[in-house]
Amino acid sequence: MDSTTLQNARAYEAWHGAAIPAAERPAYHLTPYVGWMNDPNGFSYYKGKYHLFYQYYPYKTVWGPMHWGHAVSSDLLHWEYLPAALAPDSPADKDGCFSGSAAELPDGRQLLLYTSVCKQAQPDGETREVQTQSVAVGDGLDYEKPFTAPVLDEHDLPDGFSRFDFRDPKLWREPDGSYSAVIVGQGRAEGGAALLFRSADGFHWEYVTILDASRGEYGVMWECPDFFELDGKQVLMAGPMEMHARDEYHNGHCVIALIGSYDPETCRFTRESVQLMDEGIDFYATQTLLAPDGRRIMTAWMQAWAGISDQPHGAKWFGQTICPRELHIRDGRIIQTPVRELDAVRGARVLHENVRIEGEAALEGIGGRVADLTLTVTPEAGCRTFTVKLAADAGHRTTLTYEPRTRRLTLDRSQAGFHQDIVHIRSCTVRGESETLSLRILLDRNSVEVFINGGEQTMTACIYTPPEADGIAFAADGAARLTAEQYALAL
Ligand code: FRU
Repeated sequence: MDSTTLQNARAYEAWHGAAIPAAERPAYHLTPYVGWMNDPNGFSYYKGKYHLFYQYYPYKTVWGPMHWGHAVSSDLLHWEYLPAALAPDSPADKDGCFSGSAAELPDGRQLLLYTSVCKQAQPDGETREVQTQSVAVGDGLDYEKPFTAPVLDEHDLPDGFSRFDFRDPKLWREPDGSYSAVIVGQGRAEGGAALLFRSADGFHWEYVTILDASRGEYGVMWECPDFFELDGKQVLMAGPMEMHARDEYHNGHCVIALIGSYDPETCRFTRESVQLMDEGIDFYATQTLLAPDGRRIMTAWMQAWAGISDQPHGAKWFGQTICPRELHIRDGRIIQTPVRELDAVRGARVLHENVRIEGEAALEGIGGRVADLTLTVTPEAGCRTFTVKLAADAGHRTTLTYEPRTRRLTLDRSQAGFHQDIVHIRSCTVRGESETLSLRILLDRNSVEVFINGGEQTMTACIYTPPEADGIAFAADGAARLTAEQYALAL
């Protein structure tokens, strides 16, 4: 391998990425420059800009040998593409540069810590991907891999942990200038586990402890961990694979937050509660950063692995990130709200106050596919359901239906332009007892993000609905009072 792998990727994306018209991308969600994107990586604030790297295969809209794509932004909404940052071109990562993260070095350079993947023949004759951790160092544009050997490998793992499932380092700088990282592993007894490592300089790492683990309860393996303090609590976030459905957890991949406390002296994390991070369809591989103003901001891949077989026909890109969300703790639970930068791009406002909806109704000025819409719904006595129809025309719709009796809110995108029988419907139970339901809905051409009751719960899904289907309408089986406030977004 030599660096032509990276040069080729950069030349390919410069040609084919630039050719994609802006109107064929979402207005404020990041997509790959061209080709395939999965997890967001290296989400960081560096040299006055937000940096967002991503798992990237430029040549096709399917997963392939992983590169890192790269984009920067001043407001987390408008993204400028930079050339691909990493390519699988070193002996340790010749089969892929998997997920990882970024931090600043004392000399001002940016350090990337990522999973290097290398296929190796095993004693039983099978070829398997061995996962190690490697570093790259750069200036925010170009990155070099200073060592040919990984900085962490199977010898650094605790007993009984697999060298085939050791990935997704999330690093951060400690107040004393040293570095820590949480990396997922798979232990014989623990199953998916979050392992803590530390380093004085970002290059020499040692294992510290197991922070927490699935132990049969939360999936078989974890991915994309994060570990941070939030409003006096400690949060360990991870993506369990192959969860079994129970309570609010559905089958397959999801993202959970383990909320508790942390003692930095003993490096002991004590779990107090567990929360499902998103109750919609397309949400995985979260990563957070600490903004200069102290906000904890989270991004995620706005996609489900189980749904990747369905892609819009003819599209030159596949995969998006969510609109970044600010995180807080309220009453022991994580609250998510769209970054406040979105408020700054709010344009014309349309307001309908306390309208009685009985049967179906559209409201003057409420509609479109790029919008920030807040609905406050108070069902009247006997109201069986209240439905919001989004991205609607004669043949299409994505609906949110609320049943006051059961407090179930159902997202249904089965008429949103899909071709495959993947998951299209998901429901959640709206927490609390309030009779009034508040929904903030972000629409952006190919997605719907719903923030329930101030962000206590969220539901996120992609839609492939043709752009002409831009109607929004309301329907009540019974009657409900509705206040609808929509802002155009001046992007
Ligand atoms: C999660 C994941 C990571 C891995 C990456 C590979 O979606 O499987 O665990 O690093 O994707 O692209």
